[in-house]
Amino acid sequence: MNSLFARKPIAELVPEGSEGTGLRRTLTTIDLVALSIGAVIGAGIFSSIGTAAAGQMAADGVTVIRYGAGPALVLSFLLLGAICALAALCYAELAAMIPQAGSAYAYSYATLGEVVAWIIGWDLILEYAVGNVAVAISWSGYFVSLLSGFGIEIPGWLAHGYREILLAAPDSPLKALMTEAPQIAGIPVLLNVPAFLIVAAITWLLVIGVKESMRVNKAMVIVKLVVLAVFILVGVQHIDMANYTPYAPNGFRGIHQGAAIVFFAYIGFDAISTAAEETKDPQRTMPRGILLGLLVCTIIYVAVGAVATGIVPYKQLLANDPLAAAFDQAGLQQFTWFISLGAVVATSAVLLVFQYGGPRILMAMARDGLLPAWAAKIHPKYRTPHVMTMFTGAIVACWALIGDAGETYDLTNIGTLFAFTIVAVGVMVLRKLEPDRHRPFRIKYVWLVASVAAAACIFVMLGLPRQAWERFAIWLALGLAVYFLYGRKRSHLRRARDSAAASGGE
Ligand code: ALA
Repeated sequence: MNSLFARKPIAELVPEGSEGTGLRRTLTTIDLVALSIGAVIGAGIFSSIGTAAAGQMAADGVTVIRYGAGPALVLSFLLLGAICALAALCYAELAAMIPQAGSAYAYSYATLGEVVAWIIGWDLILEYAVGNVAVAISWSGYFVSLLSGFGIEIPGWLAHGYREILLAAPDSPLKALMTEAPQIAGIPVLLNVPAFLIVAAITWLLVIGVKESMRVNKAMVIVKLVVLAVFILVGVQHIDMANYTPYAPNGFRGIHQGAAIVFFAYIGFDAISTAAEETKDPQRTMPRGILLGLLVCTIIYVAVGAVATGIVPYKQLLANDPLAAAFDQAGLQQFTWFISLGAVVATSAVLLVFQYGGPRILMAMARDGLLPAWAAKIHPKYRTPHVMTMFTGAIVACWALIGDAGETYDLTNIGTLFAFTIVAVGVMVLRKLEPDRHRPFRIKYVWLVASVAAAACIFVMLGLPRQAWERFAIWLALGLAVYFLYGRKRSHLRRARDSAAASGGE
């Protein structure tokens, strides 16, 4: 039982000068803020805000799956901004203390023990890989509509995955693809080829090197900031105050459930903690990068939310491309292609950062013996974790080829909120267990901040539909099975303890 909760000594988690064989330390605060904006602003603000504002009905047209926030979406964003800031402080304290690639996984190994660390690592796969499936599909949707604006049409069966069409409402025009698509052995061939190709391209970029990837990321960050600035500056001149009434049509329940969906828009600021091993002076740079990135994103979201719900009645935002649709309906058609372009670029940047973070967490788990050793291999020339980068790239690309975006949003949100909760608890546990350890970044009023952060994350989780909870429980049960059948026996920490105990006993 004790070995289940064995903690990894922090000294072992802080890598020594890793210039020789490890990853390169090249990233600065600006790189981290760019990485953060790159990870955060994407499918959430460009796609999920429509459902967050308008709510969601079941296919029967009667049952409410979730209530929307209406124009009070701005309050959902502010609520989430505050909650994520608290969680970010917890991440910053741990990231500065334990500047290691494993993020929340590494922190929980040092604080709550091996089995909790495993659960978190397994859970983070949801955030990074499953989340990216949704982002890739969203990318594809905007890309296809951008191309069609230039007169290039991609056949529907090559732009939508099988599950997306299977789960579409019976009255959806997309449903016809079931019979229109070519069939193989009676099964319609429905493949989201653009989603597959973008993941493949990004995987290749990440294999050839982090510095090159950062340059591409920065260019994409600039484009998405310009596009959202145009949305805000043009849109603000077309606000009709009548659209703000009623302000909160479903009261606090709508604000809460809206927040639980649009939380997807905030996911990612934590991803930059996975870059700790590649960051210069991580003790200082990490907390600064995390908090600054979050602040910029919150300001942009509040402004975009206020403009989007101000230019059209909030129910009209229920579309795959709510921001473009809002401009379209407000008579600003000349800007819609520009917004689609922004969405394509923004979601590409998100894909880049998440495909970057996921392999690094898995690599950290493999280095600890919880996953096979090949997963921790670093490329001799490019010095990137190429094996895991290609492995996760292949899984995300194949899932995106046939998957449904909506199915993966909720699962990603619940998994990420759970990880945030554990990190906040971990901060408190470590303050208790190792109160004197040097903390380059210390949270003030830590007990208040960390306990409110944990409680608030659970509160947001409660706004998600029941199905998300059920699927999350299955995912965790599967993870525990893998741990007990594989990782537990091979854990380096456990082996070291066992051999120390054996030699002590001789
Ligand atoms: N926050 C990221 C997005 O909205 C995951 O795409």
